[in-house]
Amino acid sequence: MSQPVLQVVIASTRPGRVGGHVADWFVERARVHGGFEVEVVDLAEVDLPLLDEPNHPRLHHYTKQHTLRWSETISRGDAYVFVMPEYNYGINAALKNAIDYLFVEWQDKAVSFVSYGGVSGGLRAVQMLKQVISALKMVPTQDAVVLPFVRQYIDEAGGMSVRVPSRSRPRRCSTSSRGSRGRSARSARLDLPAAPGGR
Ligand SMILES: Cc1cc2nc3c(=O)[nH]c(=O)nc-3n(C[C@H](O)[C@H](O)[C@H](O)COP(=O)(O)O)c2cc1C
Repeated sequence: MSQPVLQVVIASTRPGRVGGHVADWFVERARVHGGFEVEVVDLAEVDLPLLDEPNHPRLHHYTKQHTLRWSETISRGDAYVFVMPEYNYGINAALKNAIDYLFVEWQDKAVSFVSYGGVSGGLRAVQMLKQVISALKMVPTQDAVVLPFVRQYIDEAGGMSVRVPSRSRPRRCSTSSRGSRGRSARSARLDLPAAPGGR
């Protein structure tokens, strides 16, 4: 049986972003986990314009090639991890825009978060995002990775090293999602790497 597809969505599109480094770090661990086919979805590469569809996404009546491509991409995913910064105490515009484009593609699917930023580690953005994804009937995991003062983990070559206190153990969360292409409900377990400030 094929493995569920975990899409790791890089939310930041900024030149010089740290989001790519954080995503590389997480993707390596997700692949070692072995329970998923891991696919990276980089919003900088997807390069969506501001939402320009005339119809509500719930109608699934798309008129633009970029929307059709985006719909195909997200439909492949059974579960998602958003690697996300915090901008002005909230989610970054590129992520909100990308989410708003679609509806049924997200529905009933599991989602978790690798957030980062300054003192809050992106948690305020995650809380805001949870309100948004509830409108889409997505299923958030309670466990997540939180990286406060994220630059402390990134070396000059762009590598990331997160020292895990010896008493910390990877957090394990179980979730189920509807899956893509009409697959029936399936369970997935994700061992999230423990990180300082993680919960
Ligand atoms: C427009 C903007 C707003 C920001 N607002 C916050 C914030 O509210 N809280 C925070 O912890 N960091 C904030 N930061 C700092 C970011 O956490 C930090 O720049 C991080 O590297 C952004 O992620 P990125 O490099 O992947 O885009 C902000 C950065 C930018 C560019």
